[in-house]
Amino acid sequence: MANLLFIHGYPFDHTMFDAAAKRLARNHKVIAPDLPGFGGTPPLAIEPPKVRIDDFARFLLAALDKAKVDKFVPIGHSMGGYIAFALNRLAPKRIAGFALISSRSGADTDAATKVRNDNAARVAREGTAFLSDEMSRKPLAVDHPPDPALVTKLRAMIGRAKPDACIGALHAMATRPDSTKDMPKITVPALVIAGPHDAIVPRAESEALGRGFKNGRMVWCKRSGHIPMLEEPEVVTEALVKFADDV
Ligand code: MLT
Repeated sequence: MANLLFIHGYPFDHTMFDAAAKRLARNHKVIAPDLPGFGGTPPLAIEPPKVRIDDFARFLLAALDKAKVDKFVPIGHSMGGYIAFALNRLAPKRIAGFALISSRSGADTDAATKVRNDNAARVAREGTAFLSDEMSRKPLAVDHPPDPALVTKLRAMIGRAKPDACIGALHAMATRPDSTKDMPKITVPALVIAGPHDAIVPRAESEALGRGFKNGRMVWCKRSGHIPMLEEPEVVTEALVKFADDV
């Protein structure tokens, strides 16, 4: 039995993993918290521009300690993957494996940092309504019309995110270090899952992530964008079940 820590992406919450978590809980211990300020978790007591990716990792380590969990497998979606790398820097001996979905190891480019800073300033001015419009559509595969039920589900998650949490997460992502240099030292089994129509993490970055793990395997979904666990839940669940049974 593995301890599986699901870490959701930005600006979503743990319900994005509902299908996979339910299936995996049959044979494993599943921990699927909402990050501070998202879903039902109160925000961090840190000024939003000062939030760093390690603050989320420390929050999760405290939750694992409270649940008396030592070794665990982070299953990180996108920003959740950036946090998984931070967990590996803070507590490498506790990581039993890595599963990353629609994520990447690199830091932001200057252009990406500027977009994040602009978005953080806009959330501070206007709140999160524009994020609901943008982030309920952009993550979904663009080669076919979006499933209205998925758009509604994403909007509901974004609606639960506190504006300060979104600002904090944007600063945390913009300042995260490049984790690529940590990868040669990671020898535990790793699984990378990606969608071919991801408008947020380009294919080349997903491929580099898959190649970067010494002991990694890559699963490409058939028709997903950035959120394969909602777009092709059966593919993601099957890959995670196989992986979790092996680690
Ligand atoms: C996420 O899904 O967590 C974010 O889109 C990641 C990012 O913006 O880099």
